Amino acid sequence: MRAKIVAGNWKMNKTYGESKSLVKELKTALNGVKLNNTRVIIAPPFTNLQKVSKRTKDTVIEVAAQNMCAEESGAFTGEVSASMIKSVHVDVVILGHSERRAYFGETNESLAKKVDTALKNNLEIIFCFGEVLEDRKSGNHFEVVEEQIKKALFHLTSDDWKKIVLAYEPVWAIGTGETASPEQAQEMHAFIRELVAERYISDVAEEVSILYGGSVKPSNAQEIFSKVDVDGGLIGGAALSAADFSGIIKAI
Ligand code: PGA
Repeated sequence: MRAKIVAGNWKMNKTYGESKSLVKELKTALNGVKLNNTRVIIAPPFTNLQKVSKRTKDTVIEVAAQNMCAEESGAFTGEVSASMIKSVHVDVVILGHSERRAYFGETNESLAKKVDTALKNNLEIIFCFGEVLEDRKSGNHFEVVEEQIKKALFHLTSDDWKKIVLAYEPVWAIGTGETASPEQAQEMHAFIRELVAERYISDVAEEVSILYGGSVKPSNAQEIFSKVDVDGGLIGGAALSAADFSGIIKAI
């Protein structure tokens, strides 16, 4: 059975001290909460990764990095490598977030390279993709998503897919307060699962967790998560509050 996942992307928020407080609050908020088959992941900024990783050791909370360099090591000023992430006991990385694509020039092609480096280093990947408003309005959203997935992930083997989590994040719903309707999310998630089933065997499609991201809050989480092909969420703004994030986890 595929895992349910609630992942919090802190983006460029929380200083070292603030991250310690948030982790502490989150641990308290999750105390005694029955998670069943649900994984809880948080992705703090790089400067807090080691501390958060230490403070969540032996808890239900897993830690992810928000980005990673495609190169293994060397003269790449300002970058962080896969082995550096692994060295602080972090086993998950978010790749392809729309903000990385929009502001830092990441493309389907450059992401394919990052995906390979992450897998080579035994990192699990939360791979993000999604259409912008213009694509949705012109009815191109399925094509755009298909291309994002095919170009970055369809060179992988079935075995590689054990390390892939997909995150559909319509860009028009990120940080805007506007969410895709549960029906829109389900429609896209079913399309994605079918796409994977056509390329690989249906087992791969059935096993891959597909998260929805974009203005998920405690008040709308339950309805979105109730859809059969929605296996959880990638949460931005609401992941910065222990009350909201734990509320979303309880909703699943
Ligand atoms: P949001 O961000 O929940 O603030 O809309 C989601 C994301 O960017 O992953």
